Amino acid sequence: MGNKKIGVMTGGGDCPGLNAVIRAVVKTAIRKYDYEVVGFRDGYRGLVKNDYMPLTERNVSGILDRGGTILGSSNRDNPFKFLIEKNGQFEERDMSERVIENISIHEIDAMVFIGGDGTLTSARDFYNMGVNAVGVPKTIDNDLSYTETTFGFATAVDTATDAIDKLHSTAESHHRVMILEVMGRSAGWIALHAGIAGGADVILIPEIPYKLDNVVKSLQRRKNLGKSFSIVVVAEGAKPEGGDIVVSKIVENSPDPVRLGGIGNKVGSDIETIMGIETRVTVLGHLQRGGRTNAADRVLSTRYGVAAVDLVHAEKFGQMVCLKGSEISSVSIADAVGTIKNVDVDGELIRTAKSVGIEFGAE
Ligand code: F6P
Repeated sequence: MGNKKIGVMTGGGDCPGLNAVIRAVVKTAIRKYDYEVVGFRDGYRGLVKNDYMPLTERNVSGILDRGGTILGSSNRDNPFKFLIEKNGQFEERDMSERVIENISIHEIDAMVFIGGDGTLTSARDFYNMGVNAVGVPKTIDNDLSYTETTFGFATAVDTATDAIDKLHSTAESHHRVMILEVMGRSAGWIALHAGIAGGADVILIPEIPYKLDNVVKSLQRRKNLGKSFSIVVVAEGAKPEGGDIVVSKIVENSPDPVRLGGIGNKVGSDIETIMGIETRVTVLGHLQRGGRTNAADRVLSTRYGVAAVDLVHAEKFGQMVCLKGSEISSVSIADAVGTIKNVDVDGELIRTAKSVGIEFGAE
């Protein structure tokens, strides 16, 4: 193929490893294939507004370890329902044709869309409209189907585990129950991995609605054994059996408008009221999305970035790079989006956690 031009964008909530993917895309495109690369700023917003920057090896120098994204991101802008301000009022408009126009103004041969479910759903739609799209699976939540792991997840788990380690010492000194609420939307991957890694006593995840009674009983059992403190990790999407998720806000125009948050406080106050043990709640929040990208995510991001450009070169469009077992592979974006990958409640990881005495509040 002749000298191609690749466009790249990062959409959705940012996560560690985005810069490492951008760097790998740019280096591979330039060094391996002699392509040019253009980056669009702030997710789909940049594609709608034609806000872009040429990406060279110089731009991507020194960003391998840096969290965030040098391109900026947005998890509000849906190009098919884009909010336009008119006389002080916002109205929704389908700006997908504008995106396609901007891609052709730059004479871009293929677009690399780096994002989670929302970003890749639009990437699938652009592919169906004729854009040569390739996807890269991003999210700290690790909830994308057809890939073993998304980049950003390992660093988020490290951050959450570090928080649990720190809570242990203060929990022990004050004989308290410490609750840590972690992110993950409607999947419990971060809570489960960090909870096992940090030695949590109770882990509450969306896939296993909990009975408060069981949580209290297990904390009481620990107390009776002479353990004066406990650590409870709660995924933001956890809910009691027969109860509801706790929503912190609704973000209009976001592909996934519901923002979760607050279940940790509910669990904490329920435990304190019933057991009379001092309880404190930490909501880890966006700390999980920031910081230095860990080594595992730097490697995975680099593999994904290289593989995405290889897909472009092979003209395998409509595909998302993925991890199958330990090998990099690819899958159709259409297959990968739409169905969230949840924790298997009968799977080996849950059984492992239960074997070491971790309580999920289910039976
Ligand atoms: O999908 C990543 C994520 O961090 C979720 O874990 C969390 O629920 C959500 O994004 C938070 O979104 P925002 O950055 O809009 O608060």
